[in-house]
Amino acid sequence: MPNDATTKPAQTLTARAEWEALQAHCATMQKAHLRDLFAADPARGERFVAEADGLYLDYSKQRVSEETLRLLRELAEACGLRDRIAAMFRGEHINTTENRAVLHVALRAPRDAHIDVDGENVVPQVHAVLDRMAAFAERLRSGVWLGHTGRRIRNVISVGIGGSDLGPVMAYEALRHFSDRELTFRFVSNVDGTDFVEATRDLDPAETLFIVCSKTFTTLETLTNAHAARAWTLAALHNEQAIAKHFVAVSTNADEVRKFGIDTANMFGFWDWVGGRYSMDSAIGLSTMIAIGEANFRAMLAGFHAMDEHFRSAPFERNLPVLLGLLGIWNANFLGAATVAVLPYEQYLKRFPAYLQQLTMESNGKHTTLDGAPVDCDTGPIYWGEPGTNGQHSFYQLIHQGTRIVPCDFIGFCQALSPLGDQHDLLIANLFAQSEALAFGKTADEVRAEGTPEALVPHRTFEGNRPSSTILVERLTPYTLGTLVALYEHCVFVQGTIWNIDSFDQWGVELGKVLAKRTAADLSSATEPKLDHDSSTNALIRRYRRLRGM
Ligand code: F6P
Repeated sequence: MPNDATTKPAQTLTARAEWEALQAHCATMQKAHLRDLFAADPARGERFVAEADGLYLDYSKQRVSEETLRLLRELAEACGLRDRIAAMFRGEHINTTENRAVLHVALRAPRDAHIDVDGENVVPQVHAVLDRMAAFAERLRSGVWLGHTGRRIRNVISVGIGGSDLGPVMAYEALRHFSDRELTFRFVSNVDGTDFVEATRDLDPAETLFIVCSKTFTTLETLTNAHAARAWTLAALHNEQAIAKHFVAVSTNADEVRKFGIDTANMFGFWDWVGGRYSMDSAIGLSTMIAIGEANFRAMLAGFHAMDEHFRSAPFERNLPVLLGLLGIWNANFLGAATVAVLPYEQYLKRFPAYLQQLTMESNGKHTTLDGAPVDCDTGPIYWGEPGTNGQHSFYQLIHQGTRIVPCDFIGFCQALSPLGDQHDLLIANLFAQSEALAFGKTADEVRAEGTPEALVPHRTFEGNRPSSTILVERLTPYTLGTLVALYEHCVFVQGTIWNIDSFDQWGVELGKVLAKRTAADLSSATEPKLDHDSSTNALIRRYRRLRGM
């Protein structure tokens, strides 16, 4: 059947009856204001909520009705969400473009669980690695593992990038309250030498351990920084044997680890069925375990697992990842929002938005369906954010009074980890106040009633009706961090399923990598290179070479 505007093949997403029903419904909802929705239902704030494993999700300030949610659930059913969830947990190769299973849920499965990948139960392997990590972390934390000169290791530097960095950095920052303050943790990711130089400038190589994290162990940035680390260590310790005491690797690629010169006895493995951006609870989290200890790390895994089980078994009506995912579809595809702001009112979560950027955008930034056809609607929105209250004095103006819809995920905790006077109450008061102001705004009449001069009334009016969700948790702990991360992992899965895309590949980063290699050769060539790029790139290369004195 020809694919034109009037006759779309039945299987395309926007041609589904459930999609069309949502579009028709959206025309009504576009006219509804959150003020009216709340006025019509005094219990809305208690009804449009869901709770699981310590996470309380209030989505009453989203521009949805019971009907919206029913239609979204019907869309999810029509797109086969139930079967897809089951297929993921069964270890099927749902990452079709790489022909791999997607089993980050196995990383946090209890010891007695049974999860087959291609006929083999992978749970014993997962726990064997966890046990080795725990033994190593304990030796390091207790001072049994010593550096080459016999000095105690006081500094741990994790070298990695993307999923081999953002998870460990985020988790270290998030759980700093629980970390061993005798140890210093640093993270090096950027191929910009400044990252490495600044991370090491005040450290003693005799007291420093590098954890080189790379799933493939071929990533340019990580290998370059790992070689810099090796040179830095050897320049001070003057002995190749020092490498065994100062370097460990986390990877799926033992051959490359060996080639680099790290003894595979000092390697912690994981598997191709763990995507980089889904790997913070695998051996990639070794730095996290060293920082917070085995018991806390296992508590984090228990949090992940609890959310996995909730996702797998809870009815869609009160399934947190399903709700968050479907609300995202509603905002992106029907209300036309291009972004999501993630706003943690918790300083320890300062790297959470950056972590979510990779998780969501590398997963769902796709324009091709699983069948190889172009998608027929927008896919992954742009995730960004800053911890509250800093964002309020920077970009919130646009969220309140700009012309674009920016749905917000507010995240807050009831108990302070760093109590200081009444500061925590002030922090959370700001969170609640922001979501209230965004939803309800301030009418021109209310502004006038305050005695505002007429000329200023339009400027001081807040339209409101700006959607947000609030995730409220008792306390930030390893367990609740696990539940929170798993919530977003599965939210990504829900959306990828609706869009019918592969949320687990990342072909889009490849082209840049290939071109960078070619360009690096042009930049470092001792003789004038024969440039065969476009005229802009050629001119930039010539100018760079000239200003570098080449
Ligand atoms: O940026 C692309 C990417 O492949 C990410 O998906 C991955 O997390 C990162 O590079 C690092 O890869 P590796 O762990 O293999 O070094």
